[in-house]
Amino acid sequence: MPQQVTVTEHIILHQNMVPKATGQFTRLFNEIVLSAKIISRQVNKAGLVDVLGFTGDTNVQGEEVKKLDEYANRILIHRLARSGVLCAMASEENADIIEIPHGLPQGGYIIIFDPLDGSSNIDVNVNIGTIFSIYRRVSPSSEPLMTSDVLQPGVEQVAAGYILYGSSTMLVFTTGTGVHGFTLDPGVGEFLLSHPNIRIPEQGKIYSVNEGYSQYWDEPTREVVNYFKSSENNHKKPYSARYIGSLVADFHRNLLYGGIFLYPADLRDPKKPAGKLRLLCEANPMAMLVEQAGGMAIDGHKRILEIDPDHLHQRVPLFIGSRDDVKKVQQIYAKYN
Ligand code: AHG
Ligand code: MN
Ligand code: MN
Ligand code: MN
Repeated sequence: MPQQVTVTEHIILHQNMVPKATGQFTRLFNEIVLSAKIISRQVNKAGLVDVLGFTGDTNVQGEEVKKLDEYANRILIHRLARSGVLCAMASEENADIIEIPHGLPQGGYIIIFDPLDGSSNIDVNVNIGTIFSIYRRVSPSSEPLMTSDVLQPGVEQVAAGYILYGSSTMLVFTTGTGVHGFTLDPGVGEFLLSHPNIRIPEQGKIYSVNEGYSQYWDEPTREVVNYFKSSENNHKKPYSARYIGSLVADFHRNLLYGGIFLYPADLRDPKKPAGKLRLLCEANPMAMLVEQAGGMAIDGHKRILEIDPDHLHQRVPLFIGSRDDVKKVQQIYAKYN
């Protein structure tokens, strides 16, 4: 690995620039990296070992749980609990806040994750991912943890990122000083810096949305999508449609090529007026990443990162990607106020 920087070296280098750094964050990050390698290995074996299909359970989201959802969740909870630096965890797959088991050391960080994103793509060998979001506890450690420690607005995130299980496995994250991408070299088992300081193009040529649901969209969303499909946009030609159905994969492509991803409100279902994606484990981490890369993320009107969450599994409409494209969405939505 001549002159290649591993993710651990990168974190240690950056930690050394932070005064009073205690090494707690590095320990947490090491567990994320190890979990990513374990999940990646299992994803790569799908089809050879019995990891495809459903468990038979339904999760708190009302979704049927896949075996790999459960596997990834179990690995993350087990490993992260042993980092010794967390006071709580939360997962898409768990109804309540996950406490650190008695007897294990605790610390001042909170992590929220989507253990396996893109469940519907697991069984067909299409890209899936893991998303994580990290906060610092605000209440004093001498007192019991408060729900408000976990329900912080996204602006308070100290780090966020994802692992993409694609044609190669990548870890992309930010600690508030830009977005950096690392690719897993399976031969040496290390994530190596492959995409330093990622910047999303100011304007893209791609729109990503599940257009099958267009009859359920609200008026502004229809106008937004028509804008990107028309030749009246800034490019003077229609944008290309690209939709994988795994947020991580759709986001990653748009981060590198530029473009906009939309998961709007769904008027069809009174239980889904805010769309499908979860604020804490999906929208907030992606919003921190996109802003750190020069892009934007809004719910149609306001910044995702400024939303004050009121429950763990809150959903939110999401418009995220290149700055000029998201600004256009905001302009169109503003007309309908
Ligand atoms: P998850 O697999 O973690 O439940 O997330 C699925 C999400 C997200 O990955 C994707 O963008 C979206 O669901 C796709 O939903 P539709 O099938 O409704 O388009
Ligand atoms: Mn799910
Ligand atoms: Mn997801
Ligand atoms: Mn998931």
